Amino acid sequence: MLHAIQNINEKIAPKVLGVNPLDQAALDEILLKIDGTENKTALGANAILGVSLACLKASALSNGVSLFRHIGGEKANRLPVPLMNVLNGGAHADNGLDIQEFMVAPVCGGRFSESLRAGSEIFHLLKKILSEKNLSTAVGDEGGFAPHLKNNEEALQLLVMAIEKSGYRLGEDVFLALDVASTEFFADGLYKFEGKKISGEELGEIYRGWSRKYPIASMEDGFAEDDWSSWQKFCKANEAGKNKIQVVGDDLFVTNPKRIARGIEERAANALLVKVNQIGSFTETKKAVELAHSAGFHAVMSHRSGETEDVTIADLSVGLGCEQIKTGSLCRGERTAKYNQLLRIQEEIGTNVQFWGADAFRF
Ligand code: PGA
Ligand code: ZN
Repeated sequence: MLHAIQNINEKIAPKVLGVNPLDQAALDEILLKIDGTENKTALGANAILGVSLACLKASALSNGVSLFRHIGGEKANRLPVPLMNVLNGGAHADNGLDIQEFMVAPVCGGRFSESLRAGSEIFHLLKKILSEKNLSTAVGDEGGFAPHLKNNEEALQLLVMAIEKSGYRLGEDVFLALDVASTEFFADGLYKFEGKKISGEELGEIYRGWSRKYPIASMEDGFAEDDWSSWQKFCKANEAGKNKIQVVGDDLFVTNPKRIARGIEERAANALLVKVNQIGSFTETKKAVELAHSAGFHAVMSHRSGETEDVTIADLSVGLGCEQIKTGSLCRGERTAKYNQLLRIQEEIGTNVQFWGADAFRF
């Protein structure tokens, strides 16, 4: 971090002092030029993004408007559906589950705050269920529980139990979502899943089996980042089926416009996970979301597993019209901070406020 600050003070500051901060696109262009590399390796994304977002926030302040309003203007009135990572596995926990994130996506109540309430109730019921089963209720990186379970499907069953106990309707009020993060268990063309080495096709068959049994609305990184053909095959079958689910590319796209364009061209996914610190500037983030939307893809604004209390992504999600936000579980301050900011945004919008609800998953 000190290195990023040094780059800002010594390399960026001399070239941006005096630039009109209200012209965000021009400023971001200058930042990219100073860096000069394709992947921002000279200055680092931390330095570039820090300056880009600081300028964006200063412009909003100078215009006397909130950040989401500065970004999206008068039409930015619709709040995203939260994808809440309540059960952690994969690299975010050490419990042996292959799948990294088991999420709930409450679409109910017509307002973000109602969906947040539902998620929170389900999270606490899940804790109770785990305790009753003598399973650990310690949390992983993103605030979800990380119990040792028999297999991945048991995690889905636990989410179903918690949702049913909550009284919300499974598959109507609340859906399930997964981030498989499968690149983590892909090697030599095969997936090491639940102790066996299987092909992308076989893994896709497992997902389809689960989709028939559980209301899974969204599946992120079901296949490895360079296994394009498995993505394509899965999407083709998904498009042809009657219960279309959201197929999200995270590691597949790394928020990179070239990879997103390829995904659109090859119909390898139908949604983009947006990681701001991956792409590295506000203007590029905006363009990535616009590119996704122009192809009918949905966009999921995302936190990182390593996070701070910074809440910018909450404003970005509303300002850029993202259908969903993925910002962890219902505990750990760095996760709840984003939900609290969305509550403030809802309050500020007032009577005009809208919520994506089930439309977030309609294609
Ligand atoms: P990361 O995880 O921040 O560890 O990359 C988040 C995700 O995979 O969606
Ligand atoms: Zn992911």
